Amino acid sequence: MSAKLIDGKKVAELLRKQVRDDVDFWVSDGRRRPFLQVIQVGTDPGSTTYIRAKTRACEDVGIETGTDRLPDTISARELKQIIRGYNTNDKVDGILVQLPLPSHLSSHDVIESIDYRKDVDGFHPMNVGRLTVDQPTFRSCTPAGIFELFKHYSIPVKSKHAVVVGASNIVGSPMAIMLSRENSTGKATTTICHKFTKDLTQHTISADLLIVAAGQPNLIKGEMVREGVVVIDVGINRVADETSEKGYKLVGDCHFESVREKASWITPVPGGVGPMTVAMLMKNTLLAAKKSIYPEES
Ligand code: GUN
Repeated sequence: MSAKLIDGKKVAELLRKQVRDDVDFWVSDGRRRPFLQVIQVGTDPGSTTYIRAKTRACEDVGIETGTDRLPDTISARELKQIIRGYNTNDKVDGILVQLPLPSHLSSHDVIESIDYRKDVDGFHPMNVGRLTVDQPTFRSCTPAGIFELFKHYSIPVKSKHAVVVGASNIVGSPMAIMLSRENSTGKATTTICHKFTKDLTQHTISADLLIVAAGQPNLIKGEMVREGVVVIDVGINRVADETSEKGYKLVGDCHFESVREKASWITPVPGGVGPMTVAMLMKNTLLAAKKSIYPEES
């Protein structure tokens, strides 16, 4: 078997078109455009690249955006003061603090200082908590984007064995929650693996759906999966490549060729999950502007 490719770029473009049409409709009777405030602390090149992709997507769908580039020496107090300013600014619908933060700053503390009604990343404990009890919420963009891929390609999730490799707050953990819930989302039997898991293969080999978000190139090889598995590779790793102009190439967490031989569906890297994360951020920002998750109290 050679897996069919899940084209995240194409599906993301469809979603972005929907958001663009929705934004046009939203502003057509005189409402202001949704506004996303992005905050970057420090100059991490990976973060700069992601932020560029996010702000370009905003321009593409008609969402206004501003980016604060703050020095990596900023104190937690100063950063939270800036965030509080956006919390109370009625013109700001969504606030995104790009992670990771410099080591002297606690990402938990900083995320918790964002008004949960503007937390379009879905990282605030209020939104994560609502996710765990199956309440409407800002769903973390990468897992939400993966569910859109399942929907688009009619990949069944209910009653399947889903194995998530990686337990980060950004992807692995919310992904496992969404897969395992019995009501609105997954309905899958879900296993979550992480760096303390003994004998990873014992789990991955029985997966119908394998979601890998460990940040480790070539972690999953063909012999670790069964025939027909659906593989979602969330990893984006830079590895040295002398043949490329940049001196590196992007690879996922799976050994693509050997895993593709066994799988029925697989996401490529790049062009798989990445564009979906950005598209879902656009969707969440529009939801925040519409106040459809947390309506204003009357
Ligand atoms: N760093 C890596 N992925 C993300 C993301 O989805 N949102 C934010 N804020 N930071 C990230």
